[in-house]
Amino acid sequence: MSKRIVVLISGNGSNLQAIINACEEKKINGDVVAVISNKPQVYGLERARCHDIDNAVVNHRDYETREAYDETLAKAIDEHQPDLVVLAGFMRILTADFVEHYAGKMLNIHPSLLPKYQGLNTHQRAIDAGDSEHGVSVHFVTAELDGGPVILQAKVPVFDNDTSDELAARVHEQEHRIYPLVVNWFTDERLLMQSTNGEHHALLDNTLLGSEGYSPN
Ligand code: GAR
Repeated sequence: MSKRIVVLISGNGSNLQAIINACEEKKINGDVVAVISNKPQVYGLERARCHDIDNAVVNHRDYETREAYDETLAKAIDEHQPDLVVLAGFMRILTADFVEHYAGKMLNIHPSLLPKYQGLNTHQRAIDAGDSEHGVSVHFVTAELDGGPVILQAKVPVFDNDTSDELAARVHEQEHRIYPLVVNWFTDERLLMQSTNGEHHALLDNTLLGSEGYSPN
């Protein structure tokens, strides 16, 4: 059965586009059934419209508390009965209740080699630290911000004199490769999150993934 995917965005939605394309090319056994943004008029909503995908804005500015916002957001998501919730540049800190509600069925992409550089400005921070490599991680979402178990990472080199924008562009290219791949693992039911005594692990084909996620060797 084709899986139902709801994607949450806050902006441009290039990762959303990569996932829509992969669904249309049958590289993902699923469909993006809805796109929800916390910001109005972002380009990602236009991408959804272009593909006749249900889209909505749940504007965080209309809510006084994080709890009230997340409750409304969850209702909007659940109307679409998703098998998977994909955070694709969704720039919100989530409440523990919200995260718990989607435990094991919510993925995030973060532009760093986690656990390095959780939070914002990851590309500049990698440059400032003099790192020779940088990258991106796809992980299950848990209550710890950018702290859930890593499923897959992709690395890119950091060149001398790289600007943050140049490095971001290099990372983005990898994002668009690895996010559809991981979504496909999930929709093919090869990927799951196991939680025991507050510890979370990602499993692919019943094999526990290490701290850097899947590695072929
Ligand atoms: C991506 O680089 C993604 O990794 C990042 O936002 C960008 C969204 O781009 N996510 C985070 O920083 C989450 N903490 P997109 O809207 O073009 O997909």
